[in-house]
Amino acid sequence: MIKTPIFLINFKNYSSTLGKAGFDLALKLDEAAKKSHVSLVLAVNPVVIDSYSRKLDCAVISQHVDGGMPGPSTGSIVAESLMLADCDGSLIHHSEKLLSDEEIVKSIEACKRNYLQSFLCVDSLQEARKFTVYEPTFICFEDRDLIGGNISVASSNPHEIKEMAEFLEIPVLVGAGIKTSLDVKKSLSLGADGILVASAITKASDPVAKFKELLSGFN
Ligand code: G3P
Repeated sequence: MIKTPIFLINFKNYSSTLGKAGFDLALKLDEAAKKSHVSLVLAVNPVVIDSYSRKLDCAVISQHVDGGMPGPSTGSIVAESLMLADCDGSLIHHSEKLLSDEEIVKSIEACKRNYLQSFLCVDSLQEARKFTVYEPTFICFEDRDLIGGNISVASSNPHEIKEMAEFLEIPVLVGAGIKTSLDVKKSLSLGADGILVASAITKASDPVAKFKELLSGFN
C-alpha cells in the first residue's frame, strides 16, 4: 500500500496538465516530493499512464477505471490495461465521473484482481460505509459543492472528517477547496491520512511553488 501521509494531485484535464506541459509539471512535482516524507500520487488521464509511470518515482494512478473484463468493450478503461501500463491504482466514482453502486463494486474488484490500489471517492460517511465491505484501499472524502472553490473541506466539514477518521478502518484522504498550507494542517489534525488537490496547483501561476507551500502543511 502507498505509504501515508499522501498528497494526491488530481490533474483532471486542465490545459496546464495536458500534453508536454503536464508531463514537465509532473517531473518537477516528482522531484520536489522526493525531498519530503509525503507520498505524492498523481491522478492522470489514463491515456498518459504508461509514459508517466515509466519516468516518475511517485505513484501514478488513473482518474477512472471500468469494472469490465478484457474483451469486446470499445472505449472502456479495463483494469488489466492499467496494470500492464505499470499503473499504481485508480480513482473510482470521482464526482466528475460518478458510477452506479454496481459499477463501483465492479471497479473495486477489477482493481483488486490486478493489484491496483483503489481510491474510492465518497461524499459522506454513509456512502463510505456502503462500500467498506468491498475493501477499497483508500476512502477519498470530497464535499462535491466545494470542488474548485476557495472554502476547504476541513473548514466546512470538520465533523465529517473526524468521524470518518474515527469510524473507518480504511485510510481517509480529504479534498475539495484546499488552497493553503493551513487547510492541509487542519485536514491532518482532524485525522485525515492525506489530501486531494486539483485547482490550487493546476491553476496556479507557479504550480511547483504552490505545491511546496501546501507540502509545508504536512510538517
Ligand atoms: O479530486 C480532487 C478534486 O476534486 C479537488 O478539486 O480543485 O477543489 O482542489 P479542487
